Amino acid sequence: MHFLKNKKVLLTAGPTYEAIDPVRFIGNRSSGKMGYALAEALAEKGALVHLVSGPVSIQVKHPNIELLPVESAEEMYQACMAYFDFCDIAILAAAVADYTVANPSPIKIKKKGENLHLELVKTKDILQTLGTRKKKQVLVGFALETNDELENARLKLEKKNLDFIVLNSLQDAGAGFQHNTNKVSILDKNNNLTKFELKLKTELAEDIIRYLENFVK
Ligand code: CTP
Repeated sequence: MHFLKNKKVLLTAGPTYEAIDPVRFIGNRSSGKMGYALAEALAEKGALVHLVSGPVSIQVKHPNIELLPVESAEEMYQACMAYFDFCDIAILAAAVADYTVANPSPIKIKKKGENLHLELVKTKDILQTLGTRKKKQVLVGFALETNDELENARLKLEKKNLDFIVLNSLQDAGAGFQHNTNKVSILDKNNNLTKFELKLKTELAEDIIRYLENFVK
């Protein structure tokens, strides 16, 4: 039997949208492709996937995937809190806004002076919160760094109490946001570092799942 059979997985994917007013938002370039590739691959192996997803243009296919659509970082946080305790594995692949708009306008903001100032406030760190609440769960994070990649990933791994972290490099052509391919390294809590070739996100999903097997009881 596959080690993922009937395991419950909490998975986040895609960007978050932080409303400025009813028609505008602050978002990011995440396509959700890596997260959705993971969702399909996990479900294919018998896992029950709770996919908390920001706005993306990908459809979910597998019946083992429960799609929980959210928009903002706060909504993503609430959905994760509701599901984490009864999950065996949590993989946080979403590109969550680190800051949100302090006072979004209930009506469309009119163009007035030369400058417009928006006050931004920090969002809750979902991954870090799950790290403090974790009991038996295997917890996996993603990191996107442009400099001092390994050192930053190691700090994140420890601070957020992760089992392993998937490190994306934006410096490689074909890697990262919007692409179908990605180049990653995995750093785990035992300080093992594994570097993967540039490959399809669907193939990387299989690599990440193989890596999970070292941690899932
Ligand atoms: N993450 C999260 N909640 C947030 C911000 C990030 O769960 N509010 C998760 C992401 O899903 C990812 C990991 O944390 O798995 C790393 O996100 P990243 O933005 O790279 O790290 P930060 O801790 O926000 O640090 P920094 O932006 O300073 O690099």
